[in-house]
Amino acid sequence: MGKLSRVALIYIGAVVVIAAVLVARGPFTGLSWQYVVFLGILVIVSESRATQLRKGQLTWSSSSAAMLASVVLVGPVGAAIVGACTALGLRRGPSVLQRVFNTAMYALSAYLAGRAFIALGGQVGLPSEKSFPGIIGPFAGAALIHVVANHGLLSGVLWLTADPGQGPAGARGSQGVGLSVRLVLSDLGYAAYGLLMAALWTVVGFFAPLLVLIPLFVARWAVAQFAEQQKAYEATVGALCQAVETKDFYTRGHSDRVSRGSVMIAREIGMRGDRVEAIRYAGMLHDVGKLGVPTKVLQKTGKLTEEEYAAIQLHPMRGLDIVREIGFLDEALAGIMHHHERIDGRGYPMGLAGDEIPEFARVLAVADAFDSMTSTRSYRGARPVHQAIEELRKWSGTQFDPAFVDAFVAALKREGWPRPEAPVVAADDLATVTAQDHDDPGAPLRVIDSL
Ligand SMILES: [Fe+2]
Repeated sequence: MGKLSRVALIYIGAVVVIAAVLVARGPFTGLSWQYVVFLGILVIVSESRATQLRKGQLTWSSSSAAMLASVVLVGPVGAAIVGACTALGLRRGPSVLQRVFNTAMYALSAYLAGRAFIALGGQVGLPSEKSFPGIIGPFAGAALIHVVANHGLLSGVLWLTADPGQGPAGARGSQGVGLSVRLVLSDLGYAAYGLLMAALWTVVGFFAPLLVLIPLFVARWAVAQFAEQQKAYEATVGALCQAVETKDFYTRGHSDRVSRGSVMIAREIGMRGDRVEAIRYAGMLHDVGKLGVPTKVLQKTGKLTEEEYAAIQLHPMRGLDIVREIGFLDEALAGIMHHHERIDGRGYPMGLAGDEIPEFARVLAVADAFDSMTSTRSYRGARPVHQAIEELRKWSGTQFDPAFVDAFVAALKREGWPRPEAPVVAADDLATVTAQDHDDPGAPLRVIDSL
């Protein structure tokens, strides 16, 4: 949080005061302090090791399970005190004000959940066998109030502390909304562990949290490993893209845009999420084989000899050779190898036709040609989007898969297309921007008839 507005400070102050007043009112008599202390320690441990899901924005910890168990075991005031233990978490990052707000937010949402549990007929204390299934309804209500109060209070402070003109921090646009909905749903799912913990307490006492939280910690560790792995994938793909674009300057940004166009088509046709991710990588790396083509051939301005043309045509195979050992690329490899095949069988490197061409390659071909046509080249300016669409339609059924041309046009109308910046090059680099674009269907590579 930077410098806060008066409204934001009033909001934070109100949340803190309300939480403090509700807890101070008690009652404290009959409170099982040993449970409060034990569950509070669990919250501190959980908060100290919260898993960061997205840099600078969101964290996930298993503390909500301990807070909801305390709703059942020690009631609203005890649950609020357990929630307030987040203040003692050792996690680095939050400022003092953020820590104060988080403490009040968790205390208030735990208190409200405790009140909801009682209002819905829940009995505070160790649940017995007879408590089931009657306890499930009140607990579900308490969990819902806990999650809604948490996310509501947090959204409020994010909205009030967002930079002007940027919208609410962490919840910008439809992606932010989607992320928030996923977080609410996942929190509701994790809430069930709170009831499990309370129920197990009757049987195994203080070992209950261990039995419940150990699997949660393992799951969290796996999530963190997955996030690290994703970062490594992105770095690998990014480095290869950078290498291609350094060698072939005029296509700078092309890989990113082909990736974007391919994802637009993939989503439009309802492709599964993991395949959409794979085609994103395929778009980024589709021309990685240029690294295996002599630079003088890539940069040649005039007609190509047959040998030079053959060298260009080899780039999909070279690409496959370069990245085939990268395990996570999986189906993307087929896209990289066949992105210059044509529906009529006159493409390269294999001359596959129709459905023989892998689906990824047919998708990439459309996005690849479209981006080439709408980018500035030394031998022509960037074509307007409507002209590029006309060109795609013209070659639909011969060069491109008609279904994917239709899907791309539909997605384009809805989402638009970023205007690529014209390459700005130094005189020394001029040769690199005068070469023909092998992806341009309007200016196919020319081969001289004889030497
Ligand atoms: Fe290519």
